[in-house]
Amino acid sequence: MPQFIDTPDPNIIELRGINQSYDGGENFIIQGLDFLVEDKPAQGQFVVILGMSGCGKSTILRYIAGLQEPTAGKVLIHDKPVSPDNRVGMVFQQYSSLPWMTVLENVSLALKYKGISAAERRKRAMELIEMVGLAGHEHKFAQYPTLSGGQLQRVAIARSLIANPEIILMDEPFGALDVNTRLQMQDLLADLWLKFHPTIIFVTHDISEAVYLGDDIYIMKSAPSRFVEHIKVDLPFERNRDTKRDPHFVELVREVEDRMVRVAELG
Ligand SMILES: Nc1ncnc2c1ncn2[C@@H]1O[C@H](COP(=O)(O)OP(=O)(O)OP(=O)(O)O)[C@@H](O)[C@H]1O
Ligand SMILES: [Mg+2]
Repeated sequence: MPQFIDTPDPNIIELRGINQSYDGGENFIIQGLDFLVEDKPAQGQFVVILGMSGCGKSTILRYIAGLQEPTAGKVLIHDKPVSPDNRVGMVFQQYSSLPWMTVLENVSLALKYKGISAAERRKRAMELIEMVGLAGHEHKFAQYPTLSGGQLQRVAIARSLIANPEIILMDEPFGALDVNTRLQMQDLLADLWLKFHPTIIFVTHDISEAVYLGDDIYIMKSAPSRFVEHIKVDLPFERNRDTKRDPHFVELVREVEDRMVRVAELG
């Protein structure tokens, strides 16, 4: 059982007693779910959620983003109900950029309604476009096949960073990418995390990716779902390709896999 021990330290995200039903309470997809993420502003957090398809991972991200409210329970950011003032960025499971806008327009969009001048918006967007490796592509439309799948996810990551978010929610962001692009994107994300130290909640089905990127891994059981396992990833803070050859990395991957199997057997 993951022990969401309520330490005296403040939580940045707190979900308590969450229940989710879509049929008036006859069946519950999520029941009695708690999820606490401590606030570590100077360092950030990288929390990974694993669980079988349909168990409610995207739903949890939607609660935190304020896109959906649970049937019952509390969803708090900094001890307060979710509000549009929270600085939360999201990278969705599907490509989510606006295909009728250019890369530059997509990335700067979130600043448009904040009273920031066009020149400043452009400057900040270009910095991020360069950071995610898309310099030279800024005037292309953010659509496939003008941009590849990996490039479109780079746009999505730059978009999620532009408003200087405290929390970034990432829903299987690399699921549709080929292996090499996926590895590049993992390294890009690890670098961006070290640079901006946000709190990232990252959903994936890839155990090696979970161990490579995460500091804490939580596994959900399904029907009705809640968190049942927690693995602390005690690898060095900075990770690189060699990390994946570290025997302890291999051991952790196996440990997570074993626990996933155990959770699936729970039903
Ligand atoms: N509006 C809705 N009405 C009925 N059921 C819904 C609705 N929205 C979501 N669900 C159900 O809630 C469950 C959780 O969905 P969710 O998308 O959160 O799963 P997930 O863990 O993200 O799955 P995946 O790994 O496939 O992305 C699913 O069984 C889904 O069918
Ligand atoms: Mg999902």
